[in-house]
Order: sequence, then C-alpha cells, then structure tokens
Amino acid sequence: MRRITVIGAGYVGLVTGTCLADLGNRVICLDIDEHKIKMLREGQVPIYEPGLEEMVRRNMKAGRLFFTTSYEEAVPESDFVFIAVGTPEGVDGEADLKYVGMAAESIARVMDRSLIIVNKSTVPVGTGDWVADIINSHKTTDVPFWVVSNPEFLREGSAIQDFLNPDRVVLGSLDQEAAAKVAELYLPLRAPIIITDLRTAEMIKYASNAFLATRISFINEIASICEKLGADVKEVAVGMGYDKRIGHHFLDAGVGFGGSCFPKDVKALTHMAALHGCHPQLLRAVMEINRDKRLEVIQKLRDLLDGLRDTTVGLLGLAFKPNTDDIREAPAIEIAHLLHLEGATVKGYDPVAMPNACRVLPWLITAEDPYDLAVGCDALVVLTEWNEFKHLDFARIHTLMRRPVVVDGRNIYDPEQMANLGFVYRGMGRGYNGARRREE
Ligand code: UDX
Repeated sequence: MRRITVIGAGYVGLVTGTCLADLGNRVICLDIDEHKIKMLREGQVPIYEPGLEEMVRRNMKAGRLFFTTSYEEAVPESDFVFIAVGTPEGVDGEADLKYVGMAAESIARVMDRSLIIVNKSTVPVGTGDWVADIINSHKTTDVPFWVVSNPEFLREGSAIQDFLNPDRVVLGSLDQEAAAKVAELYLPLRAPIIITDLRTAEMIKYASNAFLATRISFINEIASICEKLGADVKEVAVGMGYDKRIGHHFLDAGVGFGGSCFPKDVKALTHMAALHGCHPQLLRAVMEINRDKRLEVIQKLRDLLDGLRDTTVGLLGLAFKPNTDDIREAPAIEIAHLLHLEGATVKGYDPVAMPNACRVLPWLITAEDPYDLAVGCDALVVLTEWNEFKHLDFARIHTLMRRPVVVDGRNIYDPEQMANLGFVYRGMGRGYNGARRREE
C-alpha cells in the first residue's frame, strides 16, 4: 500500500486524495484550515461535488483516507506528497504562489526520508524548479527528493469521473525514474501517460486551458456576428462540429466562461508571456471577448426594457456552470452587480449556489424556485444551464411576470416556441430570434 499526503483539501486536493484512496492507497489529506478538517473528519464535504461525500465516507470507513492539519503527522509517513493548494490571481494577473511556497517550506522542515513531491496546483512555468530550491534551502536532513509536475484537468461537477477517466495523465520531471513511480499510481486508470520535463508539463496545463477558453471566445465572437447577420450560432456550431478537426465539444455560445480556472489561467499565461517579451494578443482578445459577453446581456436588457431603473430582473442560475455551487468569476455575479448599479431590483434562483451568491450579493432577493423567481419580473435571464431549467412551464411563467421578456444567456430554449408563447425572447447569437420560421 503506497502512502500519500495530499496538501490542500479544495476541489483538486480533495478529489485527488479521495480517488487515490479509492484506488487502494493510504492517503492523508492535509489542510491548514482547521474548520475544514474538522468537518471532513466527521464525513462532511465542504464543497458541492456529485458523489464526493459518499466516496470520502466509504474510504474513511475502509481505513484508507485520513485528515489532518499537521505536517509532522502526515509527511514523515509518506512516499509521495502531492501539492494541491490554491494559486489565486495576483494583482497583475500573475499566479500568486504564496500557498505553494508555504507548502514547500513546511514539507522541507519535516521530511526525514526520500520523497517524491508531486505538484498538482496550476503554477507558472518554472515553479517546479523553484519548489526544489525552497526544499533544498529549508530541509533539515540530507535526504533525496524529486519534484514531479502532474497538472490536473478535472472539471468541477464531474470531478470524480474526470479523475478516474482522464483523457491523459501528464507527468513532468527532470528525473524519469521519479516520474515513472508517479505513473504507477495512475496505471489502474488505463489512460495514456505522457512523461516529459517539468516545464513542458507545466505549460501543457496552461496551453490546454487557454485553448479551451479560446474556443469559447471564438464561438462567442461568431455568435455576435451571427446576431447581426441573422444567422443562428447554435446551428452554425453543429454544422462546424461535424468536421472531425473541429469536433462538437466546447462550442456552446453564451455569456462566456467563468470558474476558478479559465479566467485565472488565461491571465496568468498572458502575464508570463508579456513578462518574457512576447505579445500575447490572442490571449488578451480571449479575455476581452469574454468580458464583452457579460456587458452584452446588460445592453440587451437595457434595450428590451427601455432602461433598467425601477425594473425587476430575475436571474435563472448563479453558479458559473451547472452541477456546482461555485460562483467564482461566475457571469451571474458580475451581471447582478451591473444590474444593481443601474437601479434594477435583482432576484435570483439557483438549485445549489444561492448561499454562496448571497454572501457576495447581500441585496439579492432569493426565490424558492423558478416560478417564484418569475413573479413580478420585467425580464428573466438564464445564466446557468441547469437541467431543471430546460423544461419549465413557460405558459405559467408568462402569467407570473410583469413583462414577458426572456434573455437566454445559455441558448437553452427554442426561439420559435418562446415567441409562440408570447415572449420577447433573445438568445446569444440567434440572429432571427424565432422570427425566421414564422416569416417563411
Ligand atoms: C476547466 C477545465 O475544463 C478543466 O480541464 C480544468 O482542470 C479546470 O478548468 P471547470 O472550470 O470546472 O474546468 O469548468 P468547464 O466545464 O471547463 O467550464 C468552464 C466555463 O466555460 C464555464 O463557465 C462554462 O459555462 C463555460 N463554457 C464551457 C462555455 O461557455 N461554453 C462551452 O462550450 C463550454
């Protein structure tokens, strides 16, 4: 049984630790947040992630998963230490590495035998070398260690599935033997394993996220053009996706990307590039398009409602995407702020993200369900494509609203059906807005 410490019990750390325990390893998850560790010891998972709580409890019961706040307790017993702490955005868009640095120092102080340090946090290219320097300058005994970069590609909401069925496992190290030992942990997953150098592995993570963000901004730019020219971006994306070189995934136009990774990683890569004399104009445009999409929703509402002052707007969905309670960089949060600033009363409903949203939007009026949300609204705006929003009784909603206006920021409704029900409907990049077929 391999012994593993995972430092950081956030999305990545907790899922990694729990899944590694599920694969038969003995795992200690370490976090400096005592409250979080206390909850986890009681079998309570502090984040919403489908299937995670059950898996945590099962592995605790089987004696494979433990939680601690103590480096002394965890590290000396381990063969591998995974670093999965947060790398938040710094003042200039750079990744802030203070938690990675703190973790490295703490590991160095207590390590007393050879150790493989695996970095899962998304870190600027070159951080692996920096971690090695920190360990070297803080270790108290002369024991060998190796640093391996192992970027994580899991998505919130399907994190367990993604961890257990990865498209690939990327490992980077200056020492092929250390990388091969980490590869053994992943063998049961039967995924392609790419072994490369430290910096290349770190770059694979940034380049992958930046590419996916670029796809979204690309289709969102096409959406804006579609809207002006009377084409429907949803059908355009389907038509494009059949080309095998393009594919159907990640071509949903809407209000743009949010979450803890894409905005942060694109900005960090831009910062890194500029710092080293490059001119990352595509990456800058990706962020600019993403920001414009949120403003576009406000402009649509202003036009449809003839100004926003004294209107009531209901937001359907507050999380940055479905199946999560995460509101970090969520389009809904920025849109709510902008509406509030322009004098609108803002109501909101989300199946799980409401408590988090209320913390940052104290003036938000929360609703019990989508129908309660619709009562007295001048417009409804779809900002998260939760499944439960896809088949609402819009005839009923029509009777509850003050004005029948729907801005569909995720293109989940049929423009023609909405128009037939008497709604003024606007999607994102759906140029004909339901009128095309009626004109024919
Ligand atoms: C992402 C990466 O997918 C994952 O590999 C990485 O490890 C972390 O960042 P995540 O942030 O959980 O994962 O969410 P993801 O499902 O990728 O969606 C990101 C954002 O893009 C969401 O706001 C989503 O609404 C938006 N998106 C996604 C679109 O607007 N259109 C699409 O077609 C796909």
